[in-house]
Amino acid sequence: MTKLISIEPATGATLWTGDEGDADAAVAKARKAWPTWAALPLTKRIEAVRRYANRIRSQSEQLAELIARETGKPIWESRTEAEAVIRKVDISVKAFADRTPQRQLPSQPNMRAALRHKPHGVLAVLGPYNFPAHLPNGHIVPALIAGNVVVFKPSEKTPAVGEFLADAFVKSGLPDGVVNILQGGPDVGKKLTANDDIDGVLFTGSAQTGVALNRQFASRPDKILALEMGGNNPIIVWDTDDIHSAAVLVIQSAFLSAGQRCSAASRMIVKDELYDRVVKEVKRIADRLIIDEPFSKPAPFMGPVIDNDVADGLTESFLALMSHGGRPIKHMARPIDGRPFLTPGIIDVTDMEERPDIELFGPILQIIRVADFETAIAEANNTRYGLSAALIGGSAKLYDQFWSNSRAGIVNWNKMTVGASSEAPFGGVGLSGNHRPSAYYAADYCAYPVVSMEAEQTRASIGVGLKDED
Ligand code: NAD
Ligand code: SIN
Repeated sequence: MTKLISIEPATGATLWTGDEGDADAAVAKARKAWPTWAALPLTKRIEAVRRYANRIRSQSEQLAELIARETGKPIWESRTEAEAVIRKVDISVKAFADRTPQRQLPSQPNMRAALRHKPHGVLAVLGPYNFPAHLPNGHIVPALIAGNVVVFKPSEKTPAVGEFLADAFVKSGLPDGVVNILQGGPDVGKKLTANDDIDGVLFTGSAQTGVALNRQFASRPDKILALEMGGNNPIIVWDTDDIHSAAVLVIQSAFLSAGQRCSAASRMIVKDELYDRVVKEVKRIADRLIIDEPFSKPAPFMGPVIDNDVADGLTESFLALMSHGGRPIKHMARPIDGRPFLTPGIIDVTDMEERPDIELFGPILQIIRVADFETAIAEANNTRYGLSAALIGGSAKLYDQFWSNSRAGIVNWNKMTVGASSEAPFGGVGLSGNHRPSAYYAADYCAYPVVSMEAEQTRASIGVGLKDED
């Protein structure tokens, strides 16, 4: 049996070890549990997820500490993730009622027309490492409320947080088999998604994996597939007198969570006239960011990236941008030998002949200098992705133009590209998703509508097109 080991990125300590799970056994267990769970009254399922929320609430500091240790995120940030896990339950109850309600529809006399929703069945939930609790939780809770059961495979980089969540579901009294944890890496994920007894996959992760899943399910329209993928997100800085605030918003967008957010800004597009002042201020603030272990004091702005392989890849990507014509503004460095801490890298890529349209999932900000707003919008849209985009500065008129023309699922003005609200839909276009947004709209992909025309009596007649009886 293959062993999984989770190493704390900030310290190198072993946090968790365990065995890879058996995908087929997990699916079989879920399948067995489904009919009873789906047949429970909605109120009972809601009670069950509320008990789960209460359990997490009573252990929220433990969860936050575990997130901080397993991902390297600062403890202050990990606490916000634990809080989001708890809040998700009330939000999902509301979203279920709002998005997938039971409703009477207009109908003819002597009958009624009803809209109801049914769960799909057994859903595989595949989680990423950057929000190892909040994001899988954002699929699992709505799925359970709707009457599905779940096989949850956390990222192989964050198995301990995955286990913590699954344990909280089980210990809050959910019937056996309703939430099943399956530990393992991509191979286990492949076995899970290849099992014909699942009814769908709720995925958050990279575009590469999402596209592979899309291909895998191309001939299976009967399975629900919700893909939340990455971004190559732009932030435009235009006319503003407040250069400091503009730079702060850029820094937060690019470097919170060490740049490991799907909605992180990877590309700052800046007006020619503002270039010197904005770039200087962004660099000045970036130089001041504290990059340290999650529990260190003073509190860090950001921690390490998830592991050394990822840090090596990002360092190489920064060098590749340089060797293809990028002009470094702030070099990306590895301040601690053998640990995946990275200082923010900032690079002007305006003169690069071919800019790679890839997600650099870490603290790298590319800068593009432009002369006019049309070019700024064209640059913003110059990507196959389309998750988030922001305009900093400008006017209401320019924002209207930006909003109308930008191709993204989140379009902000004078706000960061990150920090999306759980009370709103969250998803993107292009390579960022398959038009099944999550968060508030997760309810939509957790159930399908059933419309019924219903009459108490069997009464019917044909008014037109009948011959007289002999
Ligand atoms: P990843 O695609 O490598 O892995 C995600 C999950 O899929 C993991 O559990 C992994 O084991 C599993 N997996 C990998 N290959 C698989 C395969 N072929 N079949 C089945 N399962 C497979 O993503 P990651 O590196 O863990 O997470 C970071 C990525 O997630 C970034 O690209 C980020 O932008 C994205 N992300 C997207 C959102 C969003 O809501 N749009 C949110 C957070 C993160
Ligand atoms: C993410 O899910 O990776 C980021 C969410 C956000 O901060 O908007």
